[in-house]
Amino acid sequence: MCGIVGYTGQRMAEDILLDGLRRLEYRGYDSVGIAIASDGLKVFKDKGEMSKIEPTIPRWDGSMGIGHTRWATCGKPSKENAHPFVDCTGRIALVHNGIIENHLALRKELEDEGHVFTSETDTEVLVHLMERYYEGDAHAALVAALAKVKGTYAVAAMVEGDDRIVAARKENPLVIGMGVGENMVASDVTAVLSLTSRVLYIMEGESVIVTAGGVTIFDRHGSRVERQPTTVTWTLEDAEKGGFEHYMLKEIYEQPTAIHNCLLGSLDEIDSGAVMPDIDLSTVKLVACGTSYNAAMVGKYIIESMARLPTTVELASEYRYSPGTGESPLTVLVTQSGETADTLAAAREARQRGCRTLAITNVVGSTISRETDHVFYTNAGPEIGVAATKTYITQLISMYLLGLRLGTMRQTLDRTEVRHLSTELRTMPRHVSGVLDRASEIEKAVDMLVPARDIFYLGRNINYPTMLEGALKLKEISYIHAEGYAAGELKHGPLALLDASTPVVAAAVNDHTRDKMLGNISEVAARDSPVLGIGVEGDRELAAIVDAMIGIPKVPSILSPVPLTVVLQLIAYYVARKKGCSIDKPRNLAKSVTVE
Ligand code: M6R
Repeated sequence: MCGIVGYTGQRMAEDILLDGLRRLEYRGYDSVGIAIASDGLKVFKDKGEMSKIEPTIPRWDGSMGIGHTRWATCGKPSKENAHPFVDCTGRIALVHNGIIENHLALRKELEDEGHVFTSETDTEVLVHLMERYYEGDAHAALVAALAKVKGTYAVAAMVEGDDRIVAARKENPLVIGMGVGENMVASDVTAVLSLTSRVLYIMEGESVIVTAGGVTIFDRHGSRVERQPTTVTWTLEDAEKGGFEHYMLKEIYEQPTAIHNCLLGSLDEIDSGAVMPDIDLSTVKLVACGTSYNAAMVGKYIIESMARLPTTVELASEYRYSPGTGESPLTVLVTQSGETADTLAAAREARQRGCRTLAITNVVGSTISRETDHVFYTNAGPEIGVAATKTYITQLISMYLLGLRLGTMRQTLDRTEVRHLSTELRTMPRHVSGVLDRASEIEKAVDMLVPARDIFYLGRNINYPTMLEGALKLKEISYIHAEGYAAGELKHGPLALLDASTPVVAAAVNDHTRDKMLGNISEVAARDSPVLGIGVEGDRELAAIVDAMIGIPKVPSILSPVPLTVVLQLIAYYVARKKGCSIDKPRNLAKSVTVE
């Protein structure tokens, strides 16, 4: 996720762009850049946060320009990889938010034609494609360039000597801020609100020409689209959260896109082996902390089931001090931030022990990505809420990709199974959206949990760790003591704690443990514990034995952690909200734990 902004009008474009970029920084903050039409095209870009870079940016006159704040996906954070990109003639500048999937093939084609690339990014192919097609019409060149790419984008470009900013969108937001004699283009309304509250939302597949005096929108077939601007009543703070009350809720709702971005390109590359390292291995060890540890626990079930590989999971803080066994499993470090001190120390220890290491992280260029043999990026975009949500869901998706890759390598999955699972994985964004559509139902159902002091979260099989994550989410943001438990273990101790004041959240999905789960739920209900059941929509047997039931879509049971997780996140969120807790910044917690 990156932020893009463009301005054309009568004022100093640079002032407006920098103001917009400051407001967009929550979308990305590893590098910043601007291009201004000022006696030719002037470009400045650098690695780092806006506050540090801003004082070093030269001042240029000029009333038209584009800018970008980056969250690296393809190519580490660096000056070279920062946007805007400029073509070989130095006349076209372009900024982009999204992922170009077929960039390697396009790059080869363009290099063969003589285009010289200056970065490692996927984006740079776009500016060279525009150069290839430019015959005096920037809009036509952009449309022709985009016709060649596979992937997602919100893109804005300008050509020296042309008074138009041209832009387009596919699966990434793009809005136009309509002023008087001045207009803006941006990846969200936050960037335009200081200029105007009149905005035009650009829709899927549309492109747009923006001048100081007007805006012309085209649909995907090139026909003009008439649309009236809407007036935004949000404050700037509201706008940053996209109208959501909290970043956490916004990030929960971003999960369909996050999953899509995580899968982009990767599924097609399972067969080619590009998605995960091609190495000989006989065991896998997953190492992580907190929520990432729970993703790793789910990963164990996935890898053992798909690839039949013995898999162990260890807390990073324990692994680093453990004696080791003399074996050298593939060691997978799971960390959204890539900066967690315990996980970094575990990565170093694993290498000392002679293990190949693979990092699964959300942050391109993070310390872990530089200290492991292989890296897989989850591409969830920046996460502001301390409680991990969209980064967790993409860690799960990465586990499925790893399982598919290892299963393919070891031939424990045949082509039909790989195709089937891949197809099902592609439906996950839709199923997650389906759960999100039922948020108000979940909001009502949590009333039974709000007064509790202690809550048990029960699951079995792959959804035992999913319930660990549900309990962790609740603990973090609502301050209610919640404990995830393997339902079969209940009778070995914790059953003694259950009574009418201790609610239970129990998941019973359509797998081989469902009937056992129903039995466990009945045991709990017999001790008067109120039960909130989560099961497949239409499961009447489950509905009959619980106090309230939340339905999730029917998906292959191995994929059930995905929709189930979203229900659990919403449960935690609504309980915390009803209790008036500080959701985005829970007490005593930090987003990235860089101390031991
Ligand atoms: O950045 P990491 O994934 O390595 O962080 C690990 C934990 O600190 C983190 O998951 C923590 O538990 C979160 N606050 C969970 O919401």
